[in-house]
Parts: sequence; C-alpha cells; structure tokens
Amino acid sequence: MTDTNTDSDGSTSNCGAKTDGGESSSSSTESKCGASSSDSSSSTESKCGASTSDSSSSDSKCGASSKKESTEENVGATVDDFDADPGQLVAVGLGPGHPEGMTQRAKDALLEAEHIVGYTTYVDLIPDGITEQADDIYDTPMCGEVSRTEESIDRALAGNDVAIVGSGDPNVYALAGLALEILESKGATASMVDFEVVPGVPAAQSCAARLGAPLVNDTVSVSLSDHLVPMPEIESRLHSVAKESFVITIYNPWSRKRRENFEKCCEILLTHRDPDTPVGIVHGAGREDEQVLITELGELEELGESEIIDMTTTIVVGNEETYVWDDRMVTPRGYETKYDY
Ligand SMILES: C[S@@+](CC[C@H](N)C(=O)[O-])C[C@H]1O[C@@H](n2cnc3c(N)ncnc32)[C@H](O)[C@@H]1O
Repeated sequence: MTDTNTDSDGSTSNCGAKTDGGESSSSSTESKCGASSSDSSSSTESKCGASTSDSSSSDSKCGASSKKESTEENVGATVDDFDADPGQLVAVGLGPGHPEGMTQRAKDALLEAEHIVGYTTYVDLIPDGITEQADDIYDTPMCGEVSRTEESIDRALAGNDVAIVGSGDPNVYALAGLALEILESKGATASMVDFEVVPGVPAAQSCAARLGAPLVNDTVSVSLSDHLVPMPEIESRLHSVAKESFVITIYNPWSRKRRENFEKCCEILLTHRDPDTPVGIVHGAGREDEQVLITELGELEELGESEIIDMTTTIVVGNEETYVWDDRMVTPRGYETKYDY
C-alpha cells in the first residue's frame, strides 16, 4: 500500500511486542503495537511492524524530520507475527469537534480503549478527561493515514484494545474502510479484533444544521481531494451530480495545492445550475473558529480565496428548489405538493 501524504513531525511509534532492538520508551507518541520487529528503533519509526527486518516497510513517516515529497508505506507485520490474543479495534467518529457533539457511545468507546490512535488535530478534540484514562495515545500530524491505521491494527493484534479516531463519521471519507482493507492484507479478519464502527455526526450534517434545513431532500457528497481520486474522475462525478436534482455537499473544497480543483468545481456547477442557486458555506462547524455564510453559486468562486473556504470547510449547494428564508437555507421535501399549510 502506498500513502502519499507527506507531512511529518516527530512521532515515534512503539508498537511493542517482540522487538529485538531497543527498548520501548514510554513517550506518548510512541507505538506500542507489538510484533517481532528486528530492527532497532529510530525516532520517527513505527515498531509495529513485526518480523520485518527492513525498517522501511512499516515505518511511520508522518513524523517530524521526514520531508520526503512522496512516501511509500507498505503494510509490514502480518497476523502471524503476533503471539498475543488480539484486543479490540474500534473506529470512533468524534463528530464536528466539540465535546457536546460527540455521542455518548463514542465517549464510552474511547473510555474503554487502552490505546487511542489518530491525527493530532482529531486527538486534540477529545476531552482531557477521556485521554487521561488511556494507557497510551498515538497521534501523528496531518499525514500517514495508512501508517496510522496500520499502527492501530498492530496494537490491537498485539493484544491491546484500541480506538482509532477521526472527525465526523468513520464511514465518510475516513478510515473505517482502510482499517478493514489493511486487516485483510495482513491475513487477519475483522472478527479477530472484534472490529466495530462507532458512528459520529458527519460534517455535512453538522454544517447543514448551521445553515437551516438544506439537505432535506436527496443529497450527494463529492470530495474535491485528488489525493486518491484523479481530478478528471472528480469532474465527471460533479457533472453527473450537478445535472440532476441533488443537493450537493462538497468536502475537501480548497487548499493551496487544490485551488484549480475548486475553480473547476465552480465552473462545472455553473454549467448545470443557475448563478442564484443558494450555497451554504460552513467553516469549522462546532469549533472555535466556526464561520457560516449563505451566498449564491455565482459568488462562490471568488470566495475560494477568502478564509472561510479551506480544508475545514464544507459547502452545501442547493438544488433548483432550495431557497433562502430568514437567513436559513430551505430545501423543500415535497410536502407542499400534497398538503396545505
Ligand atoms: C477527510 S474528510 C473527513 C470527513 C469526516 N469523516 C466527516 O464525517 O465529516 C475532511 C473534510 O470534512 C469536512 N469537515 C470536517 N470537519 C468539519 C467541520 N468541523 N466543519 C466543516 N467541515 C468539516 C471538510 O470538508 C474537510 O475537508
């Protein structure tokens, strides 16, 4: 598997188990996975990897000093490299980002987990009262979804109860599927680690709530991230969706490297929808820097250069029936065609 995300900082992984080289240290960013790794530990390497003698095969490169443009991350340890009875692996959705937005089930799952694994920004969203109860927190900066997910799996295969966390819901552009794919690639099964998904409120719903009632009819999500899906395919999906009567939620709308994707998206939307189509923009729903704006499709492209649209923003594009009333977006469900009110 290849994980081309490249940002990194200095998280050291200490999976645990039968490492021949070096002692597991107890810093909060070290991997405790387990498995029979024969290489010695360096400060940015994950030791989850079991019996691989080549440290590149399972190293977490999210960490600090690595600045490579593109990082190959191969899944290392297989299920045969672990001796312990597996622990549990739970993918937990944190919701939009404030403690009140987390479900009680998510809080309970995190309290039950011995290890919590996640992107640092997401781990920071977890209340201290929960993280303080965990035996270990393994957090890495913005990158390395594959290595981070593998870390969580190796820790579970090594006998730990592990929660891997993400914002929103684990089934929405998130790691639940990747966890199952990596489990399979290791020769493990979902049942072996009692794999479970604990849902969270997805960004589309958190953002819709701030806008009024824009999603009340058929809705399709499109991500503008071309990290895993090539842009021509994203363009084709946008055309298909925009020409039908769907409300569209746009995830990953803008980054400095993806300006052109956003511009292309606006252009495609305008080929199928009127410039006065209502558009809701929510940045950082449920977070301290939350911003909400209702505008029109014709105004959207120039807002790409403003701070309200970035990688923590979700955009809701209304269908032909969506209207704005009293600063709220409303998409009729169709009741008005059957009932008088
Ligand atoms: C990799 S996706 C993860 C989605 C997440 N699993 C969910 O269910 O919402 C990241 C994208 O979700 C959206 N997003 C996540 N949190 C958000 C928030 N608090 N406010 C607005 N959009 C958010 C943004 O479009 C962001 O680029």
